[in-house]
Amino acid sequence: MAEFRLPANSRIKKGKHFPAPQGASNVQRFVVYRYDPDSGENPRMDTYELDMSDCGPMVLDALIKIKNEVDSTLTFRRSCREGICGSCAMNIDGSNTLACTKSADSVKGEIRIYPLPHMPVVKDLVPDLTNFYAQYASVKPWLQTRTPAPPDHERLQSKVDQEKIDEPAACILCACCSTSCPSYWWNSDRYLGPAALLASYRWLVDSRDEATGERLDDLEDPFRLYRCHTIMNCSQACPKGLNPARAIAETKKMLVERRH
Ligand code: SF4
Ligand code: SF4
Ligand code: FES
Repeated sequence: MAEFRLPANSRIKKGKHFPAPQGASNVQRFVVYRYDPDSGENPRMDTYELDMSDCGPMVLDALIKIKNEVDSTLTFRRSCREGICGSCAMNIDGSNTLACTKSADSVKGEIRIYPLPHMPVVKDLVPDLTNFYAQYASVKPWLQTRTPAPPDHERLQSKVDQEKIDEPAACILCACCSTSCPSYWWNSDRYLGPAALLASYRWLVDSRDEATGERLDDLEDPFRLYRCHTIMNCSQACPKGLNPARAIAETKKMLVERRH
């Protein structure tokens, strides 16, 4: 009988323990994934105990405190601290979300933190998003026009048309949705995933764009669009409350309608 073994580096070891400072009155324990692919060592889970009466309320505040005061080797991305840049996306307490908008006291017990799932890891909580960004670029996320001369004034939209792009244009490309999608986990080389498809939809419904036909042609493929099986994890995961699953369903409808 065939015997299957997990690759050696898929086993996660127990890591270091950094105890709370003496006299800490409000201790919260953070258990954090640590991995440096260049080290040749297996990933491990390090435990950090912080005094939350001396720390900001969000999980990102805790990670920054750990990096500044406890263990400077911990690596993660962040920029805005306001839920706008999308760079602090990670898996916290089993869900993909933004560390800067996730409050530590919304988690019961210890807080387990991993990088976004099913992505190669650059280091610790930093996933390699090269493929994710390439897929975003592949949907040509910019205005395409076919009329020979540009108008001599700005391209106007009605309020109704503007409202169609309001929601999809609010995407911050954090990748929480795509990395929670089972279809994307197994086929991310050929399936575009919910974030790129939401970006595609944003231009499909833009009344000023004149490349709708070519955009739809690019999606007529068994993998790029149709690997979505409406599992809806993406919409549940989105920390901005967007609905990529609905955008994908609308795109499929546009493809059906243009055949008639
Ligand atoms: S609805 Fe589609 S894109 Fe969203 S999680 Fe499910 S399969 Fe993935
Ligand atoms: S749709 Fe939501 S979860 Fe997905 S990349 Fe955009 S903001 Fe992030
Ligand atoms: S740091 Fe920008 S979204 Fe969290």
